[in-house]
Amino acid sequence: MKLAMIGAGYVGLVTAACFAEMGNEVICVDADAAKVEALEQGRIPIYEPGLEAYVKRNHAEQRLFFTTELAPAIQKSLVCFIAVGTPQDRDGSADLSMVLAVAKEIGKAMDGYKVIVEKSTVPVGTARQVRQVIEAELRARGENFEFDVVSNPEFLKEGTAIDDFMKPDRVVAGCDEVRVAELMRELYAPFTRTNRPIIIMDVVSAELTKYAANAFLATKISFINELANICSRTGANITKVRQGIGSDPRIGALFLFPGLGYGGSCFPKDMQALIHTAKAHDYKPRLLEAAESINQDQRKIFVDTIRSHFKDDLQGKVFAVWGLSFKPQTDDIREAPALTILSRLLEAGARIQAYDPEAMGATRQYFGDRQDVSYAGSTYEALEGADALIICTEWTKFREPDFDRMRAVLKTPVIFDGRNLYNPQKLAKLGFKYYYIGQKVD
Ligand SMILES: NC(=O)c1ccc[n+]([C@@H]2O[C@H](COP(=O)([O-])OP(=O)(O)OC[C@H]3O[C@@H](n4cnc5c(N)ncnc54)[C@H](O)[C@@H]3O)[C@@H](O)[C@H]2O)c1
Repeated sequence: MKLAMIGAGYVGLVTAACFAEMGNEVICVDADAAKVEALEQGRIPIYEPGLEAYVKRNHAEQRLFFTTELAPAIQKSLVCFIAVGTPQDRDGSADLSMVLAVAKEIGKAMDGYKVIVEKSTVPVGTARQVRQVIEAELRARGENFEFDVVSNPEFLKEGTAIDDFMKPDRVVAGCDEVRVAELMRELYAPFTRTNRPIIIMDVVSAELTKYAANAFLATKISFINELANICSRTGANITKVRQGIGSDPRIGALFLFPGLGYGGSCFPKDMQALIHTAKAHDYKPRLLEAAESINQDQRKIFVDTIRSHFKDDLQGKVFAVWGLSFKPQTDDIREAPALTILSRLLEAGARIQAYDPEAMGATRQYFGDRQDVSYAGSTYEALEGADALIICTEWTKFREPDFDRMRAVLKTPVIFDGRNLYNPQKLAKLGFKYYYIGQKVD
């Protein structure tokens, strides 16, 4: 099939590359000329394992193209995916300006029947708005082309995006017309061959399904963090409690790790957007609001632990920080807990020596050039002369470090572990003061 992918970000680029890999011809459109030029030259603007090989191969074999020109891409394609950002607006709702701007451009460029697919995460009712915007443009042009709007939310996870897309747990397609349901089945057939379901539903339910999935997962994280906070008051061991409940298949062991709370480009904004949608429909989403507020507190509790260890005096203290991205295997720092934690420490007069395998470039851009934040070439370099180590992201290379070397390089052997990577008894024996999530508060 001939496809246009509008937006070449974490979702758009992966989706485009995977569709091309299955033999489709995909034109990837992005408004960011520098990004398009980089892609043209084989440079991948994001860190996503496996993506580079897919992009390069399919570009070289002329199934994957990059351009800033939207109109020709629309005209050459039957299916037009909208995969632009839907960031949080000031009132918590999803900001649809980019989605609707693309819809307008599609309406201006269309020259025949098209299938418009919402790939971006968009609230209930967006397909209707997209339809209205396109219809208005067609009316203004005196044209009357038919088109369908499909909701096809994306469930890939950054860090394993290629695998998630190639072997999805399920594909959800919101199709109000039978003809597009068949087309979506055909498009996704290579990905769903091995009993992976394609679930066809109405558009509104598909739009809500994406938020439902993210809200459930976010709530699961807040649930275990709340349990960790109860453990810290009762002396129960959160790791044991987690294992004790996670082995029940109704609960499940995945996504049940206590930590610094959820971050990233999706959960925080999608929770806010769903809360906003519920309220706009006169429903108070108490569970979602509680999950959100537990999530916010989790970072504060961690910073309070650091402050309390240093008797509220962080002026001039040096912190080594391991991990900046919102989770391992990505360079994405959007809403990363590390950013909030580092900002609080810097405000209190601390200095940061950070290390992350992939996210230092993005973090440097975020904080700008400043004297009190430096970036180390290795985990151990970050520790040099530091008053403590703070772990914000659970990259695998942080799991089995050389503790003797760490103790030798740190000024004082103190670790604040926001991801519960180590055995507390072992670290105590090795002479570390080790703080972790869910630890008993004296
Ligand atoms: N990142 C994820 O893991 C993930 C997972 C599932 C769903 N989503 C959803 O997918 C959508 C995209 O997320 P993302 O992380 O890929 O965003 P992103 O910011 O990485 O990418 C969006 C891209 O769209 C481009 N763009 C913006 N306006 C444009 C326009 N008018 N024409 C062409 N290109 C334009 C931007 O330049 C950017 O490259 C969001 O709605 C998000 O919630 C993201």
